[in-house]
Amino acid sequence: MLILESQKRDIAGQIGGDLLGKNIISVDQFERSDLEQLFEVTARMKRLKEQNGSTDILRGKILANLFYEASTRTDASFSIAMKRLGGEVHNIVGVQFSSVSKGETLPDTVRVLSGYADVIVLRHPEKGATRLAAQAIESERAKLGQTPVPIINAGDGVGEHPSQALLDVYTIQQKCNQIDGLTVALVGDLKHGRTVHSLARLLSMYNGVKLIFIAPPSLPMPEELVIELQARGVEMQVASTITEVAAAADVWYITRVQKERFESIEAYKEVHDSYCVTAATVAAMKAEAIIMHPLPRVGEISPEVDELPQAVYFEQAANGMYVRMALLAGVLGKW
Ligand code: NCD
Repeated sequence: MLILESQKRDIAGQIGGDLLGKNIISVDQFERSDLEQLFEVTARMKRLKEQNGSTDILRGKILANLFYEASTRTDASFSIAMKRLGGEVHNIVGVQFSSVSKGETLPDTVRVLSGYADVIVLRHPEKGATRLAAQAIESERAKLGQTPVPIINAGDGVGEHPSQALLDVYTIQQKCNQIDGLTVALVGDLKHGRTVHSLARLLSMYNGVKLIFIAPPSLPMPEELVIELQARGVEMQVASTITEVAAAADVWYITRVQKERFESIEAYKEVHDSYCVTAATVAAMKAEAIIMHPLPRVGEISPEVDELPQAVYFEQAANGMYVRMALLAGVLGKW
């Protein structure tokens, strides 16, 4: 079937209050009202899990989890979210055991999976991979005269990680009651960290949010993103140490130096232990500040911090499942 250019839908179209059938590629698809709606459903999912454990709204639906990069939280929380909603999951986490090891391309793999599954979650080392995959699915399905199978970006290289940023903002809202006017410090590998790229964009939707960037000199926030944030009117500050601005931030978002993005292990070793949050660091922060981390941590936060009330990273990870339950139910039309 021939599809005219004008008949093609936008692969990463605005959510506009309705997630049904949408791909989730970038946080830029969301407006503030979409977030409010998503977080309402997320809170419902949390209650549902606490009261009943699971439900059957996605019975008969199947998620294909396609991970070309390592994952614990994203993979497990999407899988378990799907199961708690009554759906089923097919995992392709060790791509070394799939046809990828024979040289199959990403577009071919997702064209095939779109014939089997109702929704696909993809993690891939290349920026833009989910968009490319969504285009391949769209063409295949259009050729068959069928509606596209939604795909959710679970991290595309140094690009974005939208579901992580959604759960991060949900956590900030839960812990701080509101987001407008907060000062958020982003710490660590701001160059390669896709979670901070998505989070900074989402936070720019709120009023009066100030961002403080703390990164080793070789790993700053990408310039094009800083320009984008500037154009959106976000106030930004660069600091070189946590101590320097310890009393300034309401939210501390610590990240790991992304070892897998470095060309040599020597280059990684030069910066890998640039920051470590200890109980003494926390003592200098605002008493009501919260400390977040997308995890995994590899030394950026000392375990002694875990017991402090400011440490919310495990609760943040738990919220990931509720947000992903809401996203899966949404794209499959069950809100
Ligand atoms: C993050 C990622 O994959 O970008 N992990 C996650 O999904 N929670 C952060 C990281 O790997 O450092």
